[in-house]
Amino acid sequence: MASEKVLVLGAKGMLGQELVRVFSVDKKYEVTGWDREEIDVTNFSEAERKIKKYAPRIIINAAAYNAVDLCEESEEEYQRALTLNAEVPKFLACLAKDLDAVSVHYSTDYVFDGENGNEGYDERAEPNPISKYGKSKWEGEKNVLAQSGKSYLIRLSKLFGKPALSIGGKKSFFEKMLEVAKDKSEVSAVDDEKSCFTYAPDLAKATLALIRDNAPYGIYHLPNEKPATWYGAALELFRLAKMDMTVEAVPAETFPRPARRPKYSALLNTKRPLLRSYTEALKEFLES
Ligand SMILES: NC(=O)c1ccc[n+]([C@@H]2O[C@H](COP(=O)([O-])OP(=O)(O)OC[C@H]3O[C@@H](n4cnc5c(N)ncnc54)[C@H](OP(=O)(O)O)[C@@H]3O)[C@@H](O)[C@H]2O)c1
Repeated sequence: MASEKVLVLGAKGMLGQELVRVFSVDKKYEVTGWDREEIDVTNFSEAERKIKKYAPRIIINAAAYNAVDLCEESEEEYQRALTLNAEVPKFLACLAKDLDAVSVHYSTDYVFDGENGNEGYDERAEPNPISKYGKSKWEGEKNVLAQSGKSYLIRLSKLFGKPALSIGGKKSFFEKMLEVAKDKSEVSAVDDEKSCFTYAPDLAKATLALIRDNAPYGIYHLPNEKPATWYGAALELFRLAKMDMTVEAVPAETFPRPARRPKYSALLNTKRPLLRSYTEALKEFLES
């Protein structure tokens, strides 16, 4: 049987590189990964020509604008965020519909306001973003869902894994903590913002399983289990890495940032098998 063509966009990003790796292992798929060097997804006419020529059966969009604070302060940056996070998903969902392809799009817990106590948010919860980044991602969600095509919209939070291979790629919280620990024996971490961590290889596998299982199209929450604060996660990191670091719990005001973050935005996965705990994933990450 001929293999199905899968196109991963943002293929050098933290998540994109894992999607390419995980789908490549499955003989059912022929995988192509494109990043900025191969395609500018904001150049719609050129991107359409190139993607249609490749004619994928599955288009996975892991490209995004993720500079949460930068776009809060600068109108120019916010416009960039809207282009990448709202217009590109709309363009790709339309294109997928034209090609009768499946589209996969990723979003964030930052579409929620974090104000419903310690309940968390299931897949049916109504977004109410409190930052411009969150608004740009919600616009993208609405644009994808409005196409009513064969679309999976997957929310995650606090991604970690191997650093992105791309030039602009961010390092994860754990990577940054390990860097701090090279010169210091004490670190402060915020203890009044709680959500789930997501290990990029686990999310890539969960995405593959979703498609493999022919799960119904729609919204999914696929983070690793057990919400944690930055402080709680830093404690776990140094415990698992067997490093002697003192971690001080501080409120979010200690590190004033332009964009507001939700206080409690745990994503509840009520539709799919639960992913393992983030501490198990973190252990694997440290050993890798
Ligand atoms: N990171 C998190 O904590 C987090 C949390 C919640 C949700 N998410 C979502 O998860 C998904 C994956 O995030 P990620 O952290 O893996 O992102 P990432 O590491 O920033 O990767 C995004 C990739 O897209 C590329 N890209 C940006 N603009 C492009 C363009 N115009 N044309 C082609 N490629 C372009 C980037 O290249 P450059 O580096 O050169 O720009 C980068 O390789 C995104 O939808 C994101 O919003 C992430």
